[in-house]
Amino acid sequence: MNCRIAVFGTGYLGATHAACMAELGHEVIGVDIDPSKLAKLESGQVPFFEPGLEEVLRKNLDNGRLRFSSSYQEAADFADVHFIGVGTPQKKGEFGADLTAVEAVIENLAPLITRPAVILGKSTVPVGTAARLGERARQLSPIGDALELAWNPEFLREGYAVQDTLQPDRLVLGIDQARNGRAEEETRKVYKTLLNNNIPLLVMDLATSELVKTAANAFLATKISFINAMAEVCEAANADVTILADAIGYDARIGRRFLNAGIGFGGGCLPKDIRAFMARAGELGADQALTFLREVDTINMRRRSRMVELTAEAIGGTLLGSRIAVLGAAFKPDSDDVRDSPALNIAGQIQLQGASVVVYDPKAIENSRRLFPTLEYADTALDACHKADAVLVLTEWEEFKNLDPRTLGGVVREKVILDGRNCLNPADWLKDEWTYRGLGRGSVESVSMVN
Ligand code: UDX
Repeated sequence: MNCRIAVFGTGYLGATHAACMAELGHEVIGVDIDPSKLAKLESGQVPFFEPGLEEVLRKNLDNGRLRFSSSYQEAADFADVHFIGVGTPQKKGEFGADLTAVEAVIENLAPLITRPAVILGKSTVPVGTAARLGERARQLSPIGDALELAWNPEFLREGYAVQDTLQPDRLVLGIDQARNGRAEEETRKVYKTLLNNNIPLLVMDLATSELVKTAANAFLATKISFINAMAEVCEAANADVTILADAIGYDARIGRRFLNAGIGFGGGCLPKDIRAFMARAGELGADQALTFLREVDTINMRRRSRMVELTAEAIGGTLLGSRIAVLGAAFKPDSDDVRDSPALNIAGQIQLQGASVVVYDPKAIENSRRLFPTLEYADTALDACHKADAVLVLTEWEEFKNLDPRTLGGVVREKVILDGRNCLNPADWLKDEWTYRGLGRGSVESVSMVN
């Protein structure tokens, strides 16, 4: 049976969720307060780059199952299930999460709900938020206790958002166990197709469901910082972290995924989520449990400075007056997201040390320009590398993995390549007489020996 669904927020999470719920056969209304986003979505354009999303959006706009609106009243009248998919960014000048947008949805929506309904939160929130929001929603709504709030955290990765929504590893549902209402039944209806495909649904209390999301991101961040710490040791010992990662990754208990050493993690989730987690643990009096996350954060930020130092070293000690090409600005490939992007951050730091920096990215130039207007931007990788003293690969786009050392060698001033993501094959570059440096890969000689 089809459900009537509203999704609040049309960013990376909300827009994807709305389109994918329609793809599952439901009738969906996507709600946002930003008219420009709504106008784009209504005309079948995704306001950001996410592979495969535009097709799903267009198909479901055309078949009439998906529409967009700025009206909470329309959403409240229409839907039985209300998903919250708005952002919870880091507070300015503090580690905690800014919950203004999530709270605004409850404040505006709950008073308009006049028949039994379920609100399902998807946004990443500090543990304890859902219980508080549930209470507030029941206070505000004319139907009181017949309005239920449950939490259904989202684990989607940018670049794979559609796939992660339609074929997730698992579904998590936190319910207010004292209330024992219809939340689980409604959620099972929404995800019927997924459940029929044997995707596990784990039902738990509200607090645990909130923690599952933060714990998952904290674990991923820790895994990346672990391998980056190993990279530091490898650099000191003249060893190769990529081979080390392959070798330890064969142990199924460890696993090779998320062991790519480089300039570290960024984006709109991992950095702010580990910080919000530390802040919340502090409020709960459990700060000691998460002091290691501070180290995880520090290791991560140190990778960025290391990349800047390595660039200076590679061109003779100083960046002043040099020309540096930066290939990659997005926080990861297949995304145009530059929120807390290590690549852009490094480009900015290098510029501050007196270099002229030219940036190229296949999709993220527009967003980068908005954030760092003083950097120079090129239309192609080759243009960015024109007369460069060093070329830095900072996001592992397929396009950069396939760069031809010989063609690039024809436009640069010095054949120096720094692989911030360990995504190139050093042998290809060394063969063409480039100086190659990868993060955590020791000296050029040891790399050439291995290859
Ligand atoms: C992450 C989580 O993976 C996802 O489950 C959650 O819902 C939201 O946060 P996302 O931010 O899209 O997703 O990116 P992710 O693929 O996790 O990458 C995060 C950062 O880590 C990127 O900057 C990436 O380049 C970096 N990374 C990832 C590494 O440096 N090394 C790795 O081995 C993997």
